[in-house]
Amino acid sequence: MADVPLSAPSRPDLSHAAHTAERLLRDLPERWAHSAGVARRAREVAATVAPAERELLVAAAWLHDIGYHADLTKTGFHPLDGALWLHRQGWPERLCALVAHHSGARFAAAARGLTRELARYPFEASPLTDALTYADQTVGPYGRSMAVAERIAEVLSRHGADSVQARIHHQREPYLLAVAARVERRLAAA
Ligand SMILES: [Fe+2]
Repeated sequence: MADVPLSAPSRPDLSHAAHTAERLLRDLPERWAHSAGVARRAREVAATVAPAERELLVAAAWLHDIGYHADLTKTGFHPLDGALWLHRQGWPERLCALVAHHSGARFAAAARGLTRELARYPFEASPLTDALTYADQTVGPYGRSMAVAERIAEVLSRHGADSVQARIHHQREPYLLAVAARVERRLAAA
């Protein structure tokens, strides 16, 4: 896919997110169906963020896993690789930061010795970050709907007992469950 890095318009617009994700992920069916499912779930929980942030939320959902594309690999850590590519292509800084930090990426970055690299993108603790992470954590491979606890278990079993995911489980699980509780509270109030 040599055309991928040149495919974004010179000033990327959030409305191009789905198209950009499709170009990057269509050859990775599991990731592509997952990303489309996360975008759908992001729309369903969009009422938990300010109206002005809803388009950004859905764009980040489409793009959050593009770092899995082999041509985008810089560090081997997909949230960071995705953010770095989006940054090079001129996407908004806040979108890059959302992708860099989705689903508690900072815990895995620390375990991989990438804290300094990830810190180039600020972590924002907000309803927007929560909504993106919640959408990612309630949709599994191939876009299957899952409860957050089931998704956490699925990730652990897929990555194995010796994985980074297993090592950071004690930090990541409470974070993800707290995110889910906050989003579900906001949904109930919306
Ligand atoms: Fe994901």
